[in-house]
Order: sequence, then structure tokens, then C-alpha cells
Amino acid sequence: MRLSLAVLSLAPVALATRPFLNEPDTGIDDVLGGTPEGSLPDLEDMVGLPDFEWAARRYLNASSYTYYRNGAAGEWSYRNNLEVYGRYRLRPRVLVDITDVESTLPTTILGHNFSAPFYISPCARAALAHPGAEANFVKAAYEEDILYIPSLYASLSMDDIAAAKPANGSQVIFQQVYLTSNDTATQEIFDQAEALGSKAFVFTIDGPAGGNRHRANRYGVGSANTDYSLWTWAYYNKLRTMTSLPIIIKGIQTVEDVKVAIEQKVPAIILSNHGGRQLDSSPSPLEIALEVHQEDPDLFNQIEIFADGGVRYGADALKLLALGVKAIGIGRPFMYANAYGVEGVKHAIQLMKHEIAIDAGNLGVADLKEIDASYVGFHSTISFGVLRC
Ligand SMILES: Cc1cc2nc3c(=O)[nH]c(=O)nc-3n(C[C@H](O)[C@H](O)[C@H](O)COP(=O)(O)O)c2cc1C
Ligand SMILES: *[C@@H]1O[C@H](CO)[C@@H](O)[C@H](O)[C@H]1NC(C)=O
Ligand SMILES: *[C@@H]1O[C@H](CO)[C@@H](O)[C@H](O)[C@H]1NC(C)=O
Ligand SMILES: *[C@@H]1O[C@H](CO)[C@@H](O)[C@H](O)[C@H]1NC(C)=O
Ligand SMILES: *[C@@H]1O[C@H](CO)[C@@H](O)[C@H](O)[C@H]1NC(C)=O
Repeated sequence: MRLSLAVLSLAPVALATRPFLNEPDTGIDDVLGGTPEGSLPDLEDMVGLPDFEWAARRYLNASSYTYYRNGAAGEWSYRNNLEVYGRYRLRPRVLVDITDVESTLPTTILGHNFSAPFYISPCARAALAHPGAEANFVKAAYEEDILYIPSLYASLSMDDIAAAKPANGSQVIFQQVYLTSNDTATQEIFDQAEALGSKAFVFTIDGPAGGNRHRANRYGVGSANTDYSLWTWAYYNKLRTMTSLPIIIKGIQTVEDVKVAIEQKVPAIILSNHGGRQLDSSPSPLEIALEVHQEDPDLFNQIEIFADGGVRYGADALKLLALGVKAIGIGRPFMYANAYGVEGVKHAIQLMKHEIAIDAGNLGVADLKEIDASYVGFHSTISFGVLRC
């Protein structure tokens, strides 16, 4: 009796709309608030990935910032992508020798070696932040030895992006594609990317219809992809006959489709709701990964599974890695960091590498390859009073 009264008295609080802080309150306003609109603080003053959004919001014009920031409709999925990590607590183990954890960051992605288990997600229109545009990502990814996946809707041409790579072909990049029913055009894209040295395609399939973009439409910076697209498994299998490169599928959102992808022998998939930009109420990558884990944790061993959306801290990445995700994509923070050019993107990469390593150390993980779901309290969801809200 007493218990149910207590629950009842809490109910109105729990049901009240929680305030949403798009940018966390970590004192940046106090320290950098004097930065004039239209200019950037010193790069060294960026202490974490969220800082780059703070800086870019004041530096870019409203339409450019909005293009990057936008989520679909009421942006509930965009918010959820960020907040979901705060609903699960870590379970740190103590008195473990973690002193060598940094050396365990390197991993392979489809057999290619990289220095860290995260990559720069494909995002269109990098020139809105910096004239160096996508070339900055190529250079920063090379210098930091991580994967970059340029978007087909990049500001620069595929040739100009490839020209930013070292001439000796030592940099691995994958090419993201959106495809139409014009197979001649598809074949041209495939042949061009292959000739330019791309090592895989990333076929984005989470937007078969136009995105419902309220915020972006106010500024006329909505989705470029507005058609209804005829994308099916039969179509995917036809694409495979048109190139010798592996075709990764980006935008898987249910365990059912993970299983189909395994049946169809897809080389790798990306769990993603497109950064919450396409379908409001679509699931965050952590929720999708958890659904896969709950159905059968071994699915993560049967296909390489990557994931992107809302990752802003080392601890966020650890929660995905704990479920068996092999590498993590990060989109907006790198687009914002690109306001500083190559050095900004490199700084963001370095911050993320450092956070993953120190957070893993504090979690008691000696070897990042050995992290598993026992390091996260996936069984006890914190429904309100979340860590990040
Ligand atoms: C400005 C912007 C443009 C994007 N353009 C593309 C694109 O051209 N192709 C694609 O597959 N995904 C695109 N995405 C989605 C990203 O690849 C990725 O799924 C998403 O940004 C991850 O979420 P995050 O921004 O919270 O890290 C874009 C995202 C943003 C923010
Ligand atoms: C990748 O790393 C492994 C292990 O360090 C090494 O044996 C292999 O030669 C590397 N591959 C390439 C292409 O550098
Ligand atoms: C905003 O900035 C971008 C990139 O510099 C530019 O292309 C665009 O025209 C600007 N838009 C407005 C409304 O000033
Ligand atoms: C390729 O070229 C880059 C840039 O010039 C250089 O740093 C790198 O060592 C070269 N790699 C190989 C394998 O030759
Ligand atoms: C298909 O693409 C090719 C190559 O880009 C182009 O020449 C042709 O006009 C396109 N066909 C249609 C029907 O749009």
C-alpha cells in the first residue's frame, strides 16, 4: 500500500517532459562565452566532442549549422540517439592491470588495419564548414590512421577527394553511395570509385523515401534524396554483380534484417538511423545493438557489425563495443570540428581516442577486444533522472 502511494506520488514528476540539453552544461559558456559570433575559440580550448558543436553553432551561418544539426520531424529520435547512452550505467571492475589499454585500440575493419575502432561517417556537404571540405577528412583520417567514408553527396568530386590521399595508395577509404534505378549511372559510380582506389562501398538504405525534416526545411536545407527508391534484396544482389568490391549495407535497424543480411552473406552492416535525420521514432544504434544481443549475441560473430548515431564520449563508444559492435561511426562532431580544418578534425579524433582509452581503463578493461556486455548494466534501465538529459 505504502509502496503504491509512493509510486503514485512520483508519477507526475516522471511523466513531466524532461528538459533537453542539446549541448551539455560543462562550463563552456563561462569560459568561452566571450567568443564573438562568427569567430572560433582556440582549438586547444575544445576539450571534448560536444565543444565543437558549441563552436560551430556560433561560427557557421544559421542555414549551414542547421543542415548539420537537423533531425527528422520533432527530433525525438535525434534526442534519443544522444540520451540513450545515459540510460545504461557502466559496471566498472576494479584492481585490474589496465596500464596497457591504449595499445589495444587498433582494430581491423573488413580486414584493413586502423588505429582505433571508430571512423568518420559519411556526411554530405563538408564545404559548408570549411573550404577544404572533404579533403580535410581524408588528410586527418590518414594522419590519425582511421577510416573515412566520403558521402556520394560530398561538396568535392570523387576525383578531388581521392587526390587528397597519399599518391602511393596506402590510405584505405570506403565510398558511400546512394543509388537510383539508372544502372548506367550506378555502373559509372562503381567504376570511378574502384579506379580511384576505394576498398568498399557503403550502400545507404535507410532513406527509401524523403526525410521528414522540419528544422531543415525552414532554411531550405532539407534532404537531397527526395525520390521513392526501389531498393530490395534482389536489387542488392544485382549490385554485387556490378563491382568486385564488397558492398556494406548502412541503415539496418532490426534484428530481423541483421539475420537476412547474414543469410545474404553481406560482408558487413552498419546499425544506424541516419543520425535521427530520416524517420522520427526510429531506434538508436544502441537499442538496435541491444535487440540483436538479446536475440542472439553470436550474431555479432557472424558478420562485421558497425554502428553510428549520437556517440559523443568514450563511454558511449564502449557501450556499443561491449555488445559486439566492431567499429563506431561518428558524424556531426567531425562536421563541426571541420570548421577548424584538418587540425580540428585531427584534434577531435585524438580526443576520442584518448577518451575511449581512459574510459576503458577506468572501467577495468585491460584489452578493448575483451570488453563484453557484462561491463554495462543492460538489465536495469534508468527510466528517468537519466545521466544525460
Ligand atoms: C550533415 C549530415 C549529412 C549526412 N549525409 C549522409 C550521407 O550523405 N550519406 C549517409 O549515408 N549518411 C549521411 N549522414 C548520416 C551519417 O552518416 C551518420 O549516420 C550520422 O551522422 C551518425 O549520427 P551522429 O551525427 O549523431 O554521429 C549525414 C549526417 C549528417 C549529420
Ligand atoms: C595488419 O596488422 C597485422 C597485425 O599487426 C599485420 O600482421 C598485418 O601485416 C597488417 N596488415 C597490413 C595491410 O598492414
Ligand atoms: C552560409 O554559408 C555557406 C557556406 O559558407 C554559404 O554557401 C551560404 O550561402 C551561406 N548562407 C547564407 C544564407 O548566408
Ligand atoms: C605513402 O605516402 C605517405 C605520404 O607521402 C607516406 O607518409 C607513407 O609513408 C607512404 N607509405 C608507403 C607504404 O610507402
Ligand atoms: C542514366 O545515367 C546515364 C549516365 O549518367 C545518363 O547518360 C542517362 O541519361 C541516364 N538515364 C536516364 C533515363 O536518366
